[in-house]
Amino acid sequence: MKICIVGSGAREHCLAVSLSKFSNSVVVTPGNPGMDMSYSSLNIATDLNDPTDIDADLFVIGPEGPLSEGIVDKLKGQSKVVFGPDQQGAQLESSKIWMKAALKQAGIPTADFKVFDEFVAASNYLKTLRGGYVIKTDGLAAGKGVFVTKDYDLALKDLQDKMNGTSFGQAGKRVVIEELMEGQEISVMALTDGKKIVPLSPAVDAKRCFDDDLGPNTGGMGAYSPPDFVHDDMLDKILEKCIEPLLGVFKSKGIDYRGVLYAGLMLTPEGPKVVEFNVRFGDPETQAILPGLESDLASLIYQASLGKLTDEPKFNKNKTINVVLATNGYPDSPTLGDKIYFKEDIDDIVERADSNVRIFFAGVTTKPDDDGLFTSSGRVMSVACTDTTFENAKLKVYDQISKISFDKMHFRKDIGKKAIEFETGKLK
Ligand code: AMP
Ligand code: GLY
Repeated sequence: MKICIVGSGAREHCLAVSLSKFSNSVVVTPGNPGMDMSYSSLNIATDLNDPTDIDADLFVIGPEGPLSEGIVDKLKGQSKVVFGPDQQGAQLESSKIWMKAALKQAGIPTADFKVFDEFVAASNYLKTLRGGYVIKTDGLAAGKGVFVTKDYDLALKDLQDKMNGTSFGQAGKRVVIEELMEGQEISVMALTDGKKIVPLSPAVDAKRCFDDDLGPNTGGMGAYSPPDFVHDDMLDKILEKCIEPLLGVFKSKGIDYRGVLYAGLMLTPEGPKVVEFNVRFGDPETQAILPGLESDLASLIYQASLGKLTDEPKFNKNKTINVVLATNGYPDSPTLGDKIYFKEDIDDIVERADSNVRIFFAGVTTKPDDDGLFTSSGRVMSVACTDTTFENAKLKVYDQISKISFDKMHFRKDIGKKAIEFETGKLK
């Protein structure tokens, strides 16, 4: 089976590595040059052609952009088998207002919210809130359009910048203001064929830019999976109360949803509540989840795409920590164009598909007069390590990172900290 993955990030690289175990031909479009340079023992190629010009038995769409632009509708129009929702279904992620209405229809617990197009009304509402402020752009903003603060003045400034178009252009002019939810945040992804839904291992994403969850929200600076504090019965409850009811909403709207349903959840004292839904695999969670998957991912995705999902994903008991290497200035103004140095031969580092230390490339590019890789966007690569304990995985991941460098490299040093505290009994 030839599989075509659409996208160019570390999530797509990880999907390619996982899928290549079960498929003799995996192509990523457009991919990135790091994918071409690594894992040469696997059948992973990149292709700059438009996906609609590529011949494949199965298409897997990575990022939200192409989904919200209707790539699935186009590919299905060519009778292709595609994993991912159509444009209508993708509104679950591309419009927070659509998502909130869907949650309400499904009776899924989430934060109270109001929508504003007009600054005076929005700022008046802000004044009435107590305990914290969450201000979101309605449109897609790569995980960066959300501002969470307990400081009223900072909230007002963010609201002004969004609504006058300074910070997010048109995407910021309509805002959602939400009640602040407090608790542990987790990500639960499930695969669905529109009727049956099966969960993957949960993960915890480190959203803030700096250690100890400080600094601005980002697309994700690292992740670990599975969190010990999410037991099987909790996962079942999350699936039943927070994700499955969406299938009824899709049905009522005539949406045949085949793909990933990704719930970002807050484990509040009143129970799990949905923070957001995404319509695709999470990045960087996928790089922490897939190394533990024992089942045939290609078969699961193919079954879901055909509307005939029968298998359940099975995971081993290993723990994975994934750390994102970013460039200084990410997420607001990343510095780009720096050469990436590897202390070992690049092949020795990335060629360990069977070992438990893996690199997945994202924002990397080449230059005509140099055979190395250079930084080309804020999140440069993911380094993921798997072991029997989080403690060991953490040692390995940071050891691996010490062999990679580029000017202005920035990464969090505390990914998996809470997991290790649970593992070692410091947290209960
Ligand atoms: P979103 O893009 O809606 O997922 O928001 C990005 C991040 O902002 C989430 O992952 C949370 O960490 C935080 N966040 C969003 N909404 C809320 C909320 N209502 N209460 C607390 N934190 C939130
Ligand atoms: N890690 C958050 C996301 O994929 O949107």
